[in-house]
Amino acid sequence: MARKQITLKDPTRFKDPATLTWERYVALQARERERYLAERATIPDDAMAYRSVSPRYLERAVDQFANNYYSELSATHYIATAAANAPFDELKKCCLFQLADEQRHLEMDREVFERAGIPERDWLPAWEAPGTTCRFFRHLLELEDTIELLVKGNFVAEGAAGPATFAVLADGAEARGDVFSAVNHRARVRDETRHISFARVLVKALIDDDPANLDVIQTWQDESLQLFVEVARGGQRQEWWQGFLDSYYKIALPLGLRPTSLPV
Ligand SMILES: [Fe+2]
Ligand SMILES: [Fe+2]
Repeated sequence: MARKQITLKDPTRFKDPATLTWERYVALQARERERYLAERATIPDDAMAYRSVSPRYLERAVDQFANNYYSELSATHYIATAAANAPFDELKKCCLFQLADEQRHLEMDREVFERAGIPERDWLPAWEAPGTTCRFFRHLLELEDTIELLVKGNFVAEGAAGPATFAVLADGAEARGDVFSAVNHRARVRDETRHISFARVLVKALIDDDPANLDVIQTWQDESLQLFVEVARGGQRQEWWQGFLDSYYKIALPLGLRPTSLPV
C-alpha cells in the first residue's frame, strides 16, 4: 500500500515559534550548556561513578538507559532525513537545529551507560528486547517523508514524552540515587519542549491548510501509539504511561484529534 502523503500547500502558514536564527540558536545553546555543566558540577563523585545506586537498580535500569540512548540515536537519524527532504526552508531550519540538540542528548546518554559500567555489547540487546521503544523508532527510521516524520516523531512521540514524563523519569532516577540521569532528563526536556512546539505549529498549519489532513494525522497518531504501547508493559509502568498519554492528548485533542483505542 502506498503511504499517504500530505503537504502544506501554503508554506507561509508555518513559522518557527522559537523564531530562531543561527546566531540566536548558538547563543541559546551556549547558555544551555553552561547551565547543564553547572548542575552537573554539583553531583557528588559517588553518584557520577554510580556507586550511590544499588546493584539491583543498575540491573533494572539498563533497558531505561537503552530507551533513552537509542531513542536519541534514532532521533539524530530521522531528523536528518526530515531536514534533507524538507519541503520548505523554514521547516528545514527547525530540523537542522533539532539535529544538533539530539546529538547532544545522545552524548549525555552514552555517558550514562559508560559511567554506569554497562558493557557496550549489552546495550543493543536491551533495546531490542520486548517492552522498549525499539519497534516505534525502527518504524520511523524507515520513513522518508518530512511531514510524516515530524508528526510521528515530534508531535506524537515527543509530545507524549514531554515535560510530565521526563519529570517522572527524573524524579524516579533521583530517588534511587541516580542524580546524573535526573540532571540529564531535566536538561533534555528544555530542548524537547521546543521540538514539540514547532511540530504543534506544523500540525495546526496542516489542518488549517486542508481539513482533510486531520484524517491522515489521526492515522499517523494511531500507528505511533500502537507501536509505543508495549513500553507500558501491560500496565507495569502505569504511572509513566498515563503521564505519556496525558501529555500528548493535552496538545492533540484541542486540534481535533481523537484518543487512540489501545489495549492498556
Ligand atoms: Fe532528544
Ligand atoms: Fe527531540
